[in-house]
Amino acid sequence: MKPVEITPAKGKLGILLVGLGAVSTTVIAGVLAVRKGLAKPIGSLTQMGTIRLGKRTEGRSPKISDVLPIATLDDIVFGGWDLFDDNSYEAAKTAGVLEPALLEQIRPELEAIRPMSAVFDRQYVKRLDGPNVKKGKNKKDLADQVIADIRAFKAHHNLDRLVMVWCGSTEIFMVESPAHASLAAFEAALEASDPSIPSSMVYAYAALKEGIPYANGAPNLTCDVPAMTELAAQTKSPICGKDLKTGQTLIKTIIAPGLKARLLGVDGWYSTNILGNRDGEVLDDPESFKTKEESKKSVLDYIFQAHLYPDLYKEIHHVVRINYYPPRGDNKEGWDNVDIRGWLGYPMQLKINFLCRDSILAAPIVLDVALLLDLAKRAGMSGIQEWLSFYFKSPQHAPGLYPEHDLFIQLMKLKNTMRWMLGEELITHLGREYYD
Ligand SMILES: NC(=O)c1ccc[n+]([C@@H]2O[C@H](COP(=O)([O-])OP(=O)(O)OC[C@H]3O[C@@H](n4cnc5c(N)ncnc54)[C@H](O)[C@@H]3O)[C@@H](O)[C@H]2O)c1
Repeated sequence: MKPVEITPAKGKLGILLVGLGAVSTTVIAGVLAVRKGLAKPIGSLTQMGTIRLGKRTEGRSPKISDVLPIATLDDIVFGGWDLFDDNSYEAAKTAGVLEPALLEQIRPELEAIRPMSAVFDRQYVKRLDGPNVKKGKNKKDLADQVIADIRAFKAHHNLDRLVMVWCGSTEIFMVESPAHASLAAFEAALEASDPSIPSSMVYAYAALKEGIPYANGAPNLTCDVPAMTELAAQTKSPICGKDLKTGQTLIKTIIAPGLKARLLGVDGWYSTNILGNRDGEVLDDPESFKTKEESKKSVLDYIFQAHLYPDLYKEIHHVVRINYYPPRGDNKEGWDNVDIRGWLGYPMQLKINFLCRDSILAAPIVLDVALLLDLAKRAGMSGIQEWLSFYFKSPQHAPGLYPEHDLFIQLMKLKNTMRWMLGEELITHLGREYYD
């Protein structure tokens, strides 16, 4: 196989984050800390992962970043938007994820990252309100202002390339509407300030219009509509989403494929958690929670394939609860009770108690997604990047395909895509040649 031609990662890469809250500031502070040798980038495939190439007997397992031209951390410049005008140091303090002692060591760099004014409308995130918000005559005007921000940021920092990742709050639940059906309909709806265009779509439109890769870290509909895929195709921009796969759903997509692999039945899966950060506060609003719930619940349906295994998975009672509980801040505690069934129908139970840190799990994902989208763009890949499903709770996929949720299949897809880029043999795990 011939390797894919990939433009080298020369010059600086701007990572634009929409929303400078807990996740974003943990990514930014983390990259600054790693650059200074203060901490390790644990959880990041682009920084720590290896990839097996060739046969098992060849002993070739290089670091991914040694064989693929991924931008280095030293070449990243962060920027972003928020409706609160706190700089990244103040926002990281408010988020309370990282120790003050660590933040002090990178304070000047964090303070220099100040949010640009946001496109924000309370109609889509009921629990928030802030002063740093753009005014415009309609949503098209707001999109043009975001484009102007992007261009100014690129020129000011002398950047070669950009990517945008939505790390803003979860918006209210929305479904596809006629305004999303085509690019022409969407652009007319922007002019008319159609209510079916939430703030997140204004940013996504601005990024894609500029040919900038876009990822959606929240479960919002945003770029998972025909108008956005049409625009991404037109400007050759890679896109992916939705909703970073962290915490309880990460564990679910690790455990569920194992139960299914052994054909153990599941009668019910009850998940509940407490968390007290701003994300938890926003999700306390039923309309934002509905968006999150839909994203979290679909995972098991696709993994268990009840239509193929009716005796095992037809009657699953899947319940997901999120409880806003301020004392815990970003340190979420999740409980799962799984009622399973074995040989001859005998019932068993599995209990999982996960004391996790939401943004600590999310930060390496945002970094990887940004770096891999930039790689995809330089490799000439555009539209939906299904190989990045590994990172998302509701992976964006082509119409007519079902999404792949099994973490291990997702990882195989991701690494095989990297092997394909490198012109290396894909790994099928058949392995007969070792015994012939
Ligand atoms: N932390 C995780 O494990 C995780 C996992 C999956 C998804 N997410 C999603 O990531 C997003 C960010 O999470 P977080 O914990 O950082 O939340 P957060 O509340 O700390 O940060 C979100 C920030 O976005 C800002 N914001 C909201 N709307 C905006 C807009 N239109 N323009 C600019 N800024 C806007 C808010 O002011 C806030 O500062 C949420 O949607 C969350 O559901 C987080």
